Amino acid sequence: MKEDRRDGFDPDALRRQFAILNREVAWLDNAATTQRPESVLRAMDEFYRQHNANPRRSVHRLGTEATAVYEQARAATARFVGGAAPEEIVFTSGTTASINLVAAGLARGEIGPGDHVWVSAAEHHSNWVPWQKAVHAVGARLQVIPLQPDGRLDLEAFEQGLSGGQTKWVAVAWVSNVLGAVNDVRAICDLAHAARARVLVDGAQGVAHLPVDVAALGCDFFAFSAHKMFGPMGTGVLWGRSSLLQRMEPLFYGGEMIARVEEQTATWADVPYRFEGGTPNVAGVVGLAAAIDWQQALPAAAHAHVAELARQAADGLAALPGVAVLGPTTGAPRPSLVSFTVQGVPAHDVAQVLDERGIAVRAGHMCAQPLLRRLGIESAVRASFAPYNSADEVRRLLAGVQAARKIFT
Ligand SMILES: Cc1ncc(COP(=O)(O)O)c(C=O)c1O
Repeated sequence: MKEDRRDGFDPDALRRQFAILNREVAWLDNAATTQRPESVLRAMDEFYRQHNANPRRSVHRLGTEATAVYEQARAATARFVGGAAPEEIVFTSGTTASINLVAAGLARGEIGPGDHVWVSAAEHHSNWVPWQKAVHAVGARLQVIPLQPDGRLDLEAFEQGLSGGQTKWVAVAWVSNVLGAVNDVRAICDLAHAARARVLVDGAQGVAHLPVDVAALGCDFFAFSAHKMFGPMGTGVLWGRSSLLQRMEPLFYGGEMIARVEEQTATWADVPYRFEGGTPNVAGVVGLAAAIDWQQALPAAAHAHVAELARQAADGLAALPGVAVLGPTTGAPRPSLVSFTVQGVPAHDVAQVLDERGIAVRAGHMCAQPLLRRLGIESAVRASFAPYNSADEVRRLLAGVQAARKIFT
């Protein structure tokens, strides 16, 4: 659509790279998972057709090739996050696995009775439950950074909470998967580090939309999933500071994560291989590398386009009678998504009406039950955008929400 074209960026042309979007669907569920362009599908297909073998264990040529593509993907991922070295990258099955690895493999051993671990009120269950398990295992306490009335994190309350000196770890999302706001992760890291605590950032909802630079964010660990940035499912990344990865315990034992195995004892391979026990998902990380290439070739206008769609959707929804938009309306950038409730209409019914109109959105608790409880709601609807979406799809979303309200109220 002409109105979507800015600075030479044409979402319709981009859309043609996604075979699945030939179906009659407005895919506004990108925060759950994006779609994959042909280049990503081709790269994964080519791995299986041309190079398939287990990496790091076979001397034959296919094994050497598989090792090469696997390690090239690691180097590309390190560059993508602004890491200092490929060895800082651990491949996992996703954000959830990355966070569990840190919470159980390092944090649990660093906290003791009476210590504090902080999460924010807006965390995904994947960045909440692993920390619950860690604190419960050692008699520590989980503390929650509250929300301000305007929906942003209350960093003053956080700073006050840190002053007691019991805090050892902080785990916070870069971008909330419900509120859509970008958290001031740099400020959180600075406060935490001043209190001698470590910080894990859940980057799952940021990586597709914001430039990643772990040094600029100032965190100690950064977790994300390939499938939320145009790559494959079942592939994720944990970036960690080398000195901390050296101290972390593996969670999965066996396969190529060992250095030497005696009958009664074993020693571990170097970092990061000790965290990648078992045959890795080579096609997945090859797909991730292709997704990084694809994403980095996007013009800045593509990201501006996504933010503009999120703004149009948020403004349009807020203007509809009976519709309440969640999260900050001012003051915090909203790069990609908007969640909302419709008075008198259950979220799943809204999503059902939208689906009948060919519009895919997410409805439910969005894996953030503690947040929804704080907001006094049980479920919400979320529309989330990618560069292949259009202003026309936003209009269809708004019309569909109005129709749902008419049907049910
Ligand atoms: C903020 C956030 N963290 C973590 C996750 C979990 O990601 P995965 O299911 O890929 O492990 C999600 C997925 O929705 C998310 O949005």
